[in-house]
Amino acid sequence: MSTIQEEIRRRRTFAIISHPDAGKTTLTEKLLLYGGAISMAGAVKGKKSARHAVSDWMEIEKQRGISVTSSVMQFEYQGACINILDTPGHQDFSEDTYRTLMAADAAIMVIDASKGVENQTRKLFKVCVMRHIPIFTFINKMDREARNPFDLLEQIERELGIKTYAVNWPIGCGKEFRGVFDLETRHILSFEATGGAHTVSKTEVSPDDPSLADLIGKQNHAQLAEDIELLDGASEDFNLNAIQAGELSPVFFGSALTNFGVEPFLKRFLELTPPPLPRLANGTEVSPFDDAFSAFVFKIQANMNKAHRDRVTFLRICSGKFERDMEVYHVQGNKKMRLSQPQMMMAENREIVDEAYAGDIIGVFDPGLFSIGDTICAANRKVCFEGIPTFAPEHFARVRHKDTMKRKQFVKGVMQIAQEGAIQIFHEPDMGMEEVIVGVVGVLQFEVFEHRMRTEYNVEIIREPLSYQYIRWIGGDVEHPTHLTISSDTKVVQDFKDQYLLLFTSEWNIRWALERNEGLELLDFSKN
Ligand code: G4P
Repeated sequence: MSTIQEEIRRRRTFAIISHPDAGKTTLTEKLLLYGGAISMAGAVKGKKSARHAVSDWMEIEKQRGISVTSSVMQFEYQGACINILDTPGHQDFSEDTYRTLMAADAAIMVIDASKGVENQTRKLFKVCVMRHIPIFTFINKMDREARNPFDLLEQIERELGIKTYAVNWPIGCGKEFRGVFDLETRHILSFEATGGAHTVSKTEVSPDDPSLADLIGKQNHAQLAEDIELLDGASEDFNLNAIQAGELSPVFFGSALTNFGVEPFLKRFLELTPPPLPRLANGTEVSPFDDAFSAFVFKIQANMNKAHRDRVTFLRICSGKFERDMEVYHVQGNKKMRLSQPQMMMAENREIVDEAYAGDIIGVFDPGLFSIGDTICAANRKVCFEGIPTFAPEHFARVRHKDTMKRKQFVKGVMQIAQEGAIQIFHEPDMGMEEVIVGVVGVLQFEVFEHRMRTEYNVEIIREPLSYQYIRWIGGDVEHPTHLTISSDTKVVQDFKDQYLLLFTSEWNIRWALERNEGLELLDFSKN
């Protein structure tokens, strides 16, 4: 096996998805600690500011209040080269969060044990399902009061439509949390809390050890025996193919904050998660092990350094090896070029990369050549990857320029910001660019947009919020999209590829339109 192939085989590229506050940042940091990528042991459960300093790296963007970043952190662990893609949540939630999942080969879903499946997780989960990538579940915060573990699994299966395979099982929760029973090795990993401090004891005991009742308490002991019996009889069997096809989710219980169950999780995850996956280009699969370099653009971060008015384009390498200064071909621009200052993010640092492999993410400086979904490949081996879908925004505003003299800058700004994928723009059929409808996935994007129009394009805009909540691309057999039977508060618009869409104020109106228009299909993403 060549070293290129070895390098690719040891790569794992995944994203962590969760609803805000479930513990994504805490888990990410614990993983980074194992990999030695950060050295903040003990300080992880620190002030919010300290935590953010580690995983929200675009601190300057943050101060400007417009952090929309999602990047990658790379670290090594036991021979594996791990790329964790950050999926912005909280107020940073944006279309980037969805797009990041297009660059991942697996996802870890963090669930708060007291809350179960929450809204944002549901949305992100849908994108993972669309791609059939493996999804691992980490049920977090077992050191707090938690819901019944059987109920949690049942909810995941019912609401998300994925089967579950428990790798370990919790013994108690909250103050009574005593550890987990590993259903594969049939050992108990015990957890001890002393006063305010938590210590993780690595004692591995077998469930029939006579000292077990003393260790975990009589009641927990009895409960565990009952649970194991139930699980042995009723749970799904291990099936690696189903896991890797995203049909069966391995479930782990633990507590990221107290570092309980994180390392066993990481180890098992690395065994079960696949190396870089093949991607479709021109209808055929490109193997990551193909020697020729290829990559696609999944994210564009504008004006990282205001002084230079530059932007950084993030590429997911799909095959082969990238070498600094190599000549590449930009398919959509039909141009040969060298990528400028290729860099990689290593926790909080950015470093120029000399080489990178399939599975890795690199950022390159970009004067405005690239768009989301573009392919960049070796000059001698031309491929074109299928584009990245456009995901339905959820917030809409009508936008126009305040000063008619600024029309040109307005059009330029709106078009460029939309091309980067920070906003989506629509217009009413047969309307020009005097007024556009801007759609965003997270409301913060409106402020980012307004701020950028003012500071980068010198245009003040008038933004009028619209009450639409849903947008759907029109699919199916529809001859005249403007002649559909729709309710009075539903609007027909077009995107700038002239595709027709419908804007709805409620789900009820979506159903209404579907019922009254035979053959109509409504899609919440558009395949580009
Ligand atoms: P997020 O990135 O998914 O939004 O979640 P984050 O890791 O920021 O965690 C949200 C809150 O939950 C944090 O508390 C964090 O300390 C806490 N947390 C994470 N994992 C666990 C766990 O396993 N057990 C317990 N008990 N708490 C956990 P916070 O009060 O919001 O922040 P801080 O003031 O503690 O920094």
